[in-house]
Amino acid sequence: MENIIILNASPRAPKSNSKTYAQIFQKYSKLPTEYFNINKLNHMEICNKIKQFSQLLFVFPLYADSIPVTLLNFLKTLENNPPKNKPVISVLINCGFIEPEQNDTAVKIMKIFCKQNGYVFGSVLKIGSGEAILETPFRFFVSRKIKKLADSVSKKKFCELKVTMPITKKAFLKASESYWINYGRKNGLSKEEMQTLKIE
Ligand SMILES: Cc1cc2nc3c(=O)[nH]c(=O)nc-3n(C[C@H](O)[C@H](O)[C@H](O)COP(=O)(O)O)c2cc1C
Repeated sequence: MENIIILNASPRAPKSNSKTYAQIFQKYSKLPTEYFNINKLNHMEICNKIKQFSQLLFVFPLYADSIPVTLLNFLKTLENNPPKNKPVISVLINCGFIEPEQNDTAVKIMKIFCKQNGYVFGSVLKIGSGEAILETPFRFFVSRKIKKLADSVSKKKFCELKVTMPITKKAFLKASESYWINYGRKNGLSKEEMQTLKIE
């Protein structure tokens, strides 16, 4: 039977945007899904589970133009503990900047992992403005693309998809700046303090 294991590799998985993206995927998936957050302690538990699934979807954010360390460490464990039956691996990645192409290097890393470890690579969805889009009227853009991703995975018609907010870079920068200034103000920080490298 076809089924999907969804692994959230965000370092803040329980409160992450990736969690919301995974939930939208689950809503649209025609195949049964099981969802897990990756953490430092459950690598082996997840490696042992993977063999029960025909497909695997990694959901994670872009960190410093690459994959987050939570995912890197998990991939190291998976490399040393491969499942008997290897699932097809698909990827749903989101980044803070508006351009979905920011995610390209991380996607390449995942493709190389699959090639070197004998997994078939499935579909990709690259989300730009991933921190912001869920709270805007453009949320349905991303939901629609996640539905397409879910359809492509269930029909095994693998493809590469991308989505972002349909606004100019200038408007995005302006909106993000005022969002972060307000965020700082709510936490008792001025714009000038927000612009320093001191984070505590
Ligand atoms: C340490 C750190 C590094 C990040 N690096 C990038 C980056 O290189 N490019 C980018 O577009 N967004 C970057 N982001 C933004 C995240 O990708 C974005 O906030 C995402 O929505 C987080 O997803 P999550 O809630 O699932 O963890 C970074 C965020 C953090 C905290």
